[in-house]
Amino acid sequence: MLVTGGAGFIGANFVIHTVERHPETEVIVLDALTYAGNRRNLDAVAGQVTFIQGDICDSEIVDRCVRDCDTVVHFAAESHVDNSLHDPSPFIRSNIIGTFTILEAVRRYERRLHHISTDEVFGDLPLDSADQFTEETPYDPSSPYSASKASSDMLVRAWVRSYGVLATLSNCANNYGPYQHVEKFIPRQVTNVLTGARPKLYGAGVNVREWTHVDDHNEAVHRILADGRIGQTYLVGSGDERSNKEIVELILELMGCPVDGYDRVDDRPGHDLRYSNDSTKLRTELGWRPRYGDFRAGLAATIEWYRDNEWWWKPRKSETEAKYQVLGR
Ligand code: NAD
Ligand code: DAU
Repeated sequence: MLVTGGAGFIGANFVIHTVERHPETEVIVLDALTYAGNRRNLDAVAGQVTFIQGDICDSEIVDRCVRDCDTVVHFAAESHVDNSLHDPSPFIRSNIIGTFTILEAVRRYERRLHHISTDEVFGDLPLDSADQFTEETPYDPSSPYSASKASSDMLVRAWVRSYGVLATLSNCANNYGPYQHVEKFIPRQVTNVLTGARPKLYGAGVNVREWTHVDDHNEAVHRILADGRIGQTYLVGSGDERSNKEIVELILELMGCPVDGYDRVDDRPGHDLRYSNDSTKLRTELGWRPRYGDFRAGLAATIEWYRDNEWWWKPRKSETEAKYQVLGR
């Protein structure tokens, strides 16, 4: 199995999960080690996977890797909305050209592909409604990041229909868990508290996200690889929706700080209001259920992970905050 982006947050957790629960699978990781990738994310499986540092836009490397595997699980992407608003170009390159390059190799060697996407391709939902995204919701992306992911999904769908490529897609809601880069919401606030800084809430903090533990996302990917129908899209989400303000307050409470000890900063331009995935298809067709039903417990464990692994996040904290300073957030 070739795992692109296997040194990033979800990809590394996927590789560890695969080595532990599917030891018969030989894993090759292809990752460019951008600012978001970290070889040490794979320490737990050192010697058990083959690591290749390379760019998914490089058709020679991609060709060699795809030729040597049966299945490709494609996580590699530029993943942070705020970065895409500042400079969209790497998103266009990695997310669109990179996916195109993978698709062409998969077509050439007739390999199975699973493409990892996001609920952000659907745009957003009103705050005061029970509406949910489904597999039939029309695409309506808001940011350069989500537009580039929407483009990559469209390419995958076209390659399935026109070339018979054996691909499935999944669109997951927000993930949390270990090894998530300190630029992202939960790790940023946790490491702010750990470094004596105050959490930063965009705008009024009313925006809602659906939080899914990374292991639950990765279990869904394994179920789709095993029994998913070719050409189909599966939405993944825990059903646990929370406002950003609620999350910041919960982090502060769990870390023993006053719950109003955060700063309000400028809002993100075009900030999506609410995401919510209807994952009925995944649950009924493939029997998926989130194992991390208790978000409070999952968040507490994640906070502990950051407390115990300062060596992992500390070297990236100041450069990340310097980027935010430029953005005024
Ligand atoms: P991440 O930023 O933590 O990791 C991305 C990885 O891809 C890094 O290791 C990076 O080095 C690698 N990469 C980037 N560009 C590359 C290139 N051109 N060639 C090779 N490698 C490259 O991202 P993540 O949060 O783990 O997200 C992984 C995937 O899941 C992405 O496709 C993202 O769109 C999707 N997704 C993320 C979430 C979330 O909440 N984080 C939710 C749904 C879907
Ligand atoms: O929904 C899936 C998506 O979730 C993935 O496709 C993306 O790759 C992933 O980054 C994530 O996107 P978001 O933009 O929702 O996540 P982020 O962690 O950047 O922010 C979550 C929410 O918190 C969002 O409403 C913005 C807000 N926020 C974020 C940061 C970094 C803050 O209020 N303060 C912050 O400091």
